[in-house]
Amino acid sequence: RKKVILDCDPGLDDAVAILMALQASEDIELLGITTVAGNVSAEATYRNARALCALAGREDVPVLRGCTRAIMGSSVRAEHIHGADGISGTPLPASAAEEDPRHAVDFLIEQCQAADDHTITICPVGPMTNLALAMIKEPAILPKIKQVVFMGGVAFDAGNCTPAAEFNIHADPHAAQVVLQSGIDLVMMGLDVTHKAHITDERFARIHALGSEVSKAVTSMLAAYRDVIAQRSQGSREGVLHDPCTIAYVINPDLFQGRKMHVEVDTQAGPSLGRTVADGLGVSDQPANVTVMEDLDDEGLYQMITEMLGRYK
Ligand code: BDR
Ligand code: CA
Repeated sequence: RKKVILDCDPGLDDAVAILMALQASEDIELLGITTVAGNVSAEATYRNARALCALAGREDVPVLRGCTRAIMGSSVRAEHIHGADGISGTPLPASAAEEDPRHAVDFLIEQCQAADDHTITICPVGPMTNLALAMIKEPAILPKIKQVVFMGGVAFDAGNCTPAAEFNIHADPHAAQVVLQSGIDLVMMGLDVTHKAHITDERFARIHALGSEVSKAVTSMLAAYRDVIAQRSQGSREGVLHDPCTIAYVINPDLFQGRKMHVEVDTQAGPSLGRTVADGLGVSDQPANVTVMEDLDDEGLYQMITEMLGRYK
């Protein structure tokens, strides 16, 4: 089993990633869920992660409050997509668990320090502020990390936050650059691949048909999300599930195809702020530092998502 920490900003698609990770105990030992400001405030993402654990009946999993803003610059939010509360008003049970006083950055450090070398997998699916600060605060954690599988960036496609940049990287480009320059094994689940993970009517219906409380909450969130996407993209109701791709990769990497290349983040103010500049043709002499995912078995992904959500009775 892989030891995994999910670092997130729930967030509608984050919610699905959390619910998957909480049901993946055959493949994943979920050490904890760290939260960060991103789609909505740090307070709201923390509350939502706790509520999702309550919904899942998994309040045994530590949930840690994380960074409240990006390293530099003003906060970028995605309330227009995820709703003011981050979950589009979906009713979730309030958490009854005692709050864990540890900060997300310190939790990341503690968990790595307690582990053997190359054993911790970290899945950031929001701005990478927590992980970057953990690496800066305690560089001795680096050899403990087996892999970072992050949702963020866009190598060859268009941005979804600005024409150049994907949301998670744009929201904290400096943090992303710290992680990209860390020398650890990095898998980038960017828009190049996640934009192929369409929530078709048929896939939505399969999740709806599960009929459990979890399925009700997920379909409420996905319905709201698809409506927002339909309004913004003039008619297409599909929308895509970005964040669950990271958990799916940890469970079954064969669902995805990618290539290793050099990637860096544009941290300069201007139209490309937060762009992940990817050397797709190998024209620079920079070493390849990231496996950039470009394709996936989208039907296989949705079979996995539906099967895992179906484990909730
Ligand atoms: C990413 O941005 C957020 O709004 C989503 O939760 C996802 O992590 C997609 O660009
Ligand atoms: Ca997210």
